[in-house]
Amino acid sequence: MKLAVLRRLGDDWRSLADILGTTSHQQRQFEAKDDPGREMWRWLEDRDRLDELPAALRQIERPDLASLMSGGDDSLFRATLDFSAMIDERTDEFVGRRMLMRRLGEILDDPGFRSGYVVIHGEPGIGKTALLARLVQQRNLVHHFNSVLIGLTSTERFLTNVCAQLILAYNLPHDRLPEMTSADSSTLLRLLAESARRRRVVVAVDAVDEASGGPAGGNRLLLPPALPPGAFMLLTMRDPDNIPLYVDDRRDLVIDESAAENLSDAREYVDAFLNRHATVMTNQLTSLDMSAAEFTEFVTDRSEGNFMYLRHVLRGVRDRGPRGTDRVALDRLPRGLHAYYAHLERQLGVIDGTAPERQLRILAVLATWPEPLTVQRLASFAGERPHTARAVLRGWAGFLNRIDTRDEPRYALYHASFREFLAGRLDMADVRSQITSAVEDLLP
Ligand SMILES: Nc1ncnc2c1ncn2[C@@H]1O[C@H](COP(=O)(O)OP(=O)(O)OP(=O)(O)O)[C@@H](O)[C@H]1O
Ligand SMILES: [Mg+2]
Repeated sequence: MKLAVLRRLGDDWRSLADILGTTSHQQRQFEAKDDPGREMWRWLEDRDRLDELPAALRQIERPDLASLMSGGDDSLFRATLDFSAMIDERTDEFVGRRMLMRRLGEILDDPGFRSGYVVIHGEPGIGKTALLARLVQQRNLVHHFNSVLIGLTSTERFLTNVCAQLILAYNLPHDRLPEMTSADSSTLLRLLAESARRRRVVVAVDAVDEASGGPAGGNRLLLPPALPPGAFMLLTMRDPDNIPLYVDDRRDLVIDESAAENLSDAREYVDAFLNRHATVMTNQLTSLDMSAAEFTEFVTDRSEGNFMYLRHVLRGVRDRGPRGTDRVALDRLPRGLHAYYAHLERQLGVIDGTAPERQLRILAVLATWPEPLTVQRLASFAGERPHTARAVLRGWAGFLNRIDTRDEPRYALYHASFREFLAGRLDMADVRSQITSAVEDLLP
């Protein structure tokens, strides 16, 4: 219960600390720790004051957490998915997108747009997920992030998560999820109508194109064709032409890689990176014999405005070691994200005795298996020794997402664009049959 409350308390810890009468000095001490909410909990516990929490939570308009503390049914909490680590990661270095956000605000405030869908689209790696994560954070939106990389693609998970979040976020009069929530979209529609009675409600749904296909002639995730007044779905997808969306009222927002606005955001991203890693990047720029302005212009141009490209390249330059990076390597950088992956492969060296092709095959197992894997499982699925798998994971850390659990860490690919590169590069049917036979061998 403590964990469930803390996980959902988020930035509200500060209002809670105010209500509980903690001094600003004390609050700064909480804040200095990784998890201020947890620190405050400990502080109250030491003073035997935990029993004040339910009333204080009600005062800061978190009756959901108050009821959880009073021993309420936590099945609603358990039905929600926790995306906070991903949201933090995608928004940690967030820059720009001011015009897009303004346009989105105008659409959502337009009295002529009574309900419906807003679809954000743009190429792989342009920053749709990051933008949505930012909006979720700023506006406290009910949210769902589909992801093939962690196997989160099902309609059932979407419906139960979003419905449970709606009940909790808008304090709807339901103790638990209604029966048959995931059978069709009728519960979702009912809860949206209840939530939107007094205010406009926006539900953010990332990567509809990564969700599993919908019924013939219907929408993915069983997205309802019409929404109740005041209810909006904010969706992202890559190419809207590939994803049929049968809805009555829809507005589109494009993140266009070559637009001046996007290129200026990309430059801002590079500048922010240079500032954040000032010491090491100043050294690297000296060995490249480039000014910060030249470097920014150069990588922004090569990236073609793609943030995923920039992230990989900037980290590559930063981590190149004390000898610095060389100008020839920089000049050889191709244009655009897809070409970057192919180029990267040509640069690959042997990692701990493992040739490039074998490294890619190990990564392809991560690309294929529908959930994050421990080193042990990855190694056995790939038919490699754990030592080898570990060394490859270390070598490719920048392309991976490490999920720290209470037991062993687990790994998934960081980005869908890299998965697609691997799928184009290797015979994935082959990888799948390798995994199948490894799984069979593991069976008793
Ligand atoms: N505005 C931004 N500021 C800082 N970093 C960003 C921004 N936009 C994107 N990024 C970073 O660039 C990378 C790629 O972005 P993101 O994953 O959002 O792309 P995407 O459009 O969702 O791609 P895909 O279509 O493959 O899902 C991420 O590491 C993300 O954190
Ligand atoms: Mg995305």
